[in-house]
Amino acid sequence: MNNLTPKKIVEELDKYIIGQNKAKKAVAIALRNRWRRQLLSDELKDEVLPKNILMIGPTGVGKTEIARRLSKLAQAPFIKVEASKFTEVGYVGRDVESMVRDLTGLALNMVKTEHMEKVQEKAQALAEEKILNILLPPPRSQRKTVLTETQETVEEEKENYNETREKLRIQLKEGKLDNRYVDLEVREKVVPFGIVSNIGMDELEMNLKDMLGNFLPEKTKKKKVKIPDALQIIQYEETSKLIDMDKVVKEAIERTEQNGIIFIDEIDKIASKGTSYGPDVSREGVQRDLLPIVEGSTVSTKHGTVKTDHILFIAAGAFNVSKPSDLIPELQGRFPIRAELDPLGKDEFIRILKEPQNALIKQYTALIETEGVKLKFTNDSIEEIASFAVTVNEKTENIGARRLHTILEKLLEEISFEAPEAKEKELAINAKYVRQKLSDIVKDEDLSRYIL
Ligand SMILES: Nc1ncnc2c1ncn2[C@@H]1O[C@H](COP(=O)(O)OP(=O)(O)OP(=O)(O)O)[C@@H](O)[C@H]1O
Ligand SMILES: [Mg+2]
Repeated sequence: MNNLTPKKIVEELDKYIIGQNKAKKAVAIALRNRWRRQLLSDELKDEVLPKNILMIGPTGVGKTEIARRLSKLAQAPFIKVEASKFTEVGYVGRDVESMVRDLTGLALNMVKTEHMEKVQEKAQALAEEKILNILLPPPRSQRKTVLTETQETVEEEKENYNETREKLRIQLKEGKLDNRYVDLEVREKVVPFGIVSNIGMDELEMNLKDMLGNFLPEKTKKKKVKIPDALQIIQYEETSKLIDMDKVVKEAIERTEQNGIIFIDEIDKIASKGTSYGPDVSREGVQRDLLPIVEGSTVSTKHGTVKTDHILFIAAGAFNVSKPSDLIPELQGRFPIRAELDPLGKDEFIRILKEPQNALIKQYTALIETEGVKLKFTNDSIEEIASFAVTVNEKTENIGARRLHTILEKLLEEISFEAPEAKEKELAINAKYVRQKLSDIVKDEDLSRYIL
């Protein structure tokens, strides 16, 4: 994090997202501020609240993508929720607090993995010893000295045993025993049939299952397992014994509170002036539920209580029907940073097709190459694709860069289908080919509505 300066963050985001500099800067500053805050004195630290961000921009211009990439960079517990989920029929009553619980769960896994990695070597060594014990049980002499034996034979036996054990160890390490089986005691929980259903499991039922889990009898069963699997099973058991779960939970909660990021997508869908229609929960109601969490409150999770004061919230929405000012004032106030994203035009499309590390052209070329066919897009073909995308966006509905996906899919449909049997191992895609494949569809508005 030390090196992750705002500039560096923007640079990293630039690898995947074209343009949208204002939004990139805003999130970069917000992320950096969390690190700055960590360096403050304790009293001051508590005073500095995160500056939550509201990203506003038309659909398909990179809002979700920015948040997604940011989370990878931050290595912070990050969760994306859709505000509209809390209004959807069937989700009625899904409580808004669940996002904090989910975030805590994520943090817990994160911290647990880190702790597990730390003890991995030790656990591995222990697992190895255990397997060796199974393969070659320690000799009698080591368990109990039998009186009738002389000291000498005991010593000799011990030496022999150690020698064999070391030989076995080498074989084990070299994988020479990988096909052998051992008997292993495997623990499993008996879940009484019919008490817990797996369908439509929600928080409550989950908790119930967890709770029940502690009371359920544990049955051990002898199983024949291949050695590599046995090693893994034992290593896992040993790891669990080595890590201190209380510490993990404590750290996880702290990380959630201090570094957690919650991305609330589609927030515009819950913004509306009074006129709520259809069978949905009042949108304002969802906003009111959201408010305390964003403002800072205490949420109880199954791992303990979590304070939300310093969690960073990034909300995003297209706001083409409603406006940010349609949100209830308190909520507006909690998202002081507004980052507007620009609509994308032809120039951006060209760059999006070519430049990002995961650029679409790169993806398709790599996919087709697995069939032994090398695709080469000429520059004029890419320009042509971009301008078709602009045209279709104008004529039908503007879905931003998503249009490029549908257009490319259509463009390469035939090549994709024929590639395994193709005779030519190199295919150049030029503007003419693009026009030939697409212009008829693009010209026909109705057709493009369905196909592109
Ligand atoms: N500026 C951009 N640079 C690179 N790729 C982009 C850009 N904008 C959008 N894309 C691509 O378009 C697709 C949709 O983008 P994204 O999911 O970020 O849209 P959004 O802004 O969240 O839209 P919505 O409001 O509908 O949720 C993604 O595959 C993304 O990679
Ligand atoms: Mg989105």
